Amino acid sequence: MSVPHLMTLADLTPAQISRILAHAHSLKKVSLPWLGPRTKSQSNLPMPSQSLLNKSIALIFSKRSTRTRVSAETAAVLLGGRAVFLGKEDIQLGVNESVRDSARVIGGMCDGIFARVGEHEEIEELAKYSPVPVLNALSSLWHPAQVLADILTLQEHPYFSEKGLKEDADAASHKTIPTFSLLRPLTIAYVGDSANVLHDMLVTYPRLGHQMRVASPEKYRAPKQVWDRVVELGCDKGIYWTADPHEAVHGADLVVTDTWISMGQEAEKEQRLKDFQGYQVTEQLCREGRAKPDWKFMHCLPRKPHEVDDEVFYGPRSLVFEEADNRKWTAMALFDLLFGKWDLLAKS
Ligand code: CP
Ligand code: NVA
Repeated sequence: MSVPHLMTLADLTPAQISRILAHAHSLKKVSLPWLGPRTKSQSNLPMPSQSLLNKSIALIFSKRSTRTRVSAETAAVLLGGRAVFLGKEDIQLGVNESVRDSARVIGGMCDGIFARVGEHEEIEELAKYSPVPVLNALSSLWHPAQVLADILTLQEHPYFSEKGLKEDADAASHKTIPTFSLLRPLTIAYVGDSANVLHDMLVTYPRLGHQMRVASPEKYRAPKQVWDRVVELGCDKGIYWTADPHEAVHGADLVVTDTWISMGQEAEKEQRLKDFQGYQVTEQLCREGRAKPDWKFMHCLPRKPHEVDDEVFYGPRSLVFEEADNRKWTAMALFDLLFGKWDLLAKS
């Protein structure tokens, strides 16, 4: 069997995506009781999968990270394994050693590679020469791990449920593990830069039956390499593009944004701040653009106030911290299936 890698959610079928999400939710349910003090009656609790027992996962990170790194390290522990963090100042890669040689050497000692790179081609090269699966932890083009956590968050929220469940105060305040359910068809608006997180949304949400409405200034539209995958998967039919943020949020159940200045684009900051004027997500924008009255808000973080104001970001519509928490459970599912049990993901 060839080594399976995961560069973007475009590499997975909708059935595989659904399976990973259901697995993430069930790992969350099994694992949460192990994290706090256990009562006597909980002494026979089922254990989370230990598929990484005696295994090591390399985290090759050439850029900063809070959520991706912490979710990876904590998920590996729960699966019985360990993560080896290799920052760009720590290893020979890129300075004294080629990607090809590093892939072979690191893959010879570890059981999986979770890599955050600059240009997307770097992770493709890593995957080409790695003897073990490589999972994309963010590249210039894609951020699959983020979008999986976002969908899990939607599936756990009653507002998005097909069953139209009532808001559950306990679930919202994290006192209980939320119910997991199928999503009703949603209108998902994205206002801002066409960057890695949006790109994985574009190749995923339309295939799951949701409509996307995207507002980005003309010159920041998705690159050809991304759009080709969108078209190849038939997702273009479910995407409406405009340069007008008001038009994008029309009828939205969910409004999403990301930073206007992604890591590595710091030199373009001044120009970008000018080009994205009018794209900040606010209550006023969504009222004027006629988003649904109960629209919710998501952002992968880290966040700057340029792209969303405090009222929305810290307000009751915001799901940003639930999204961040769910990075751990989706990382756990990906590590379990991709690094611990390759064959299961391939068969589903
Ligand atoms: N959302 C996300 O990937 O955050 P980090 O850059 O902190 O990992
Ligand atoms: N688009 C952002 C995402 C950060 C998680 C970046 O690439 O910096």
